[in-house]
Amino acid sequence: MVEIPEHLLKRSKSARERMTGQAPSGDTSSDLEESQSTAPASETASPVETSTEKVEETKIVVEDPPYVNAAKNRDKIPWWAASALLCLPIWAVIYVGTLERPTVEATGVLQHGAEIYEQRCSSCHGANGGGGAGYKLADGEVLITFPYMADMVEWIAKGSDGFGVGNTYGSPERGRIVAGGMPAFADVLNAEELMSVVLHERAVFGNSEEALIYAEELDHIIETSEMDLDMYFDAETVTASEISEIIESTHS
Ligand code: HEC
Repeated sequence: MVEIPEHLLKRSKSARERMTGQAPSGDTSSDLEESQSTAPASETASPVETSTEKVEETKIVVEDPPYVNAAKNRDKIPWWAASALLCLPIWAVIYVGTLERPTVEATGVLQHGAEIYEQRCSSCHGANGGGGAGYKLADGEVLITFPYMADMVEWIAKGSDGFGVGNTYGSPERGRIVAGGMPAFADVLNAEELMSVVLHERAVFGNSEEALIYAEELDHIIETSEMDLDMYFDAETVTASEISEIIESTHS
């Protein structure tokens, strides 16, 4: 039989006490049995498991900042959810982008035109061009009345009074007779704004590809300041051919 020195026995005993989470017992008074019986029942149930937890907890408090501590202690998110959460900001940006974008991608002139429409026209023609006090413009209706853009700009510049109640306007096939109620915008919107709102209506309500292309050209002209479009038309004298000339000269 091998004799184990007294001091080694003591060391192993105190090591075991540390592992089981018990307070070190006195050298002589208590043995392991005794110290366990004074500990709460939950701790004695599985001494090894609880002791590891205890060690970890102490480490966290000492070494980790509070936010890390909080993160470690809360309910854990499954790995797949974590990766989904990482994608959330990207997704949010994309989602907001789609919310702000109408059916046709609106930038520059088209965006400006949409704003003018909402402010100046939607009360009578509906937020989505569905009509109200004024005619429905959506579902291509606007293009049936005005196959040519210049005629439409002239109509909006002059309004019902400028054309005169009882006279015709728009495409002869459409057969519109001025009944009154459409305001004149020549003094309110300058050439660029008039063209912007008209292009918006033709692109979004008329689904006109031509309007999209023209809006792009107009964007370019505005960006490079190639042409001054800040002037106002004269509601009394402006003609479709005068407007047409301006539109033609903005084509590249
Ligand atoms: C106060 C109400 C009102 C506002 C605001 C208004 N409109 Fe009108 N709009 C009318 C009425 C009413 C008519 C029919 C006029 C008539 O018969 O004399 C009309 C006709 C039109 C037409 C011809 C539609 C067709 O098929 O005959 C177009 C295009 C149009 N408006 C565009 C616009 C634009 C662009 C704006 C904003 C810049 C605008 N309207 C603002 C009332 C309005």
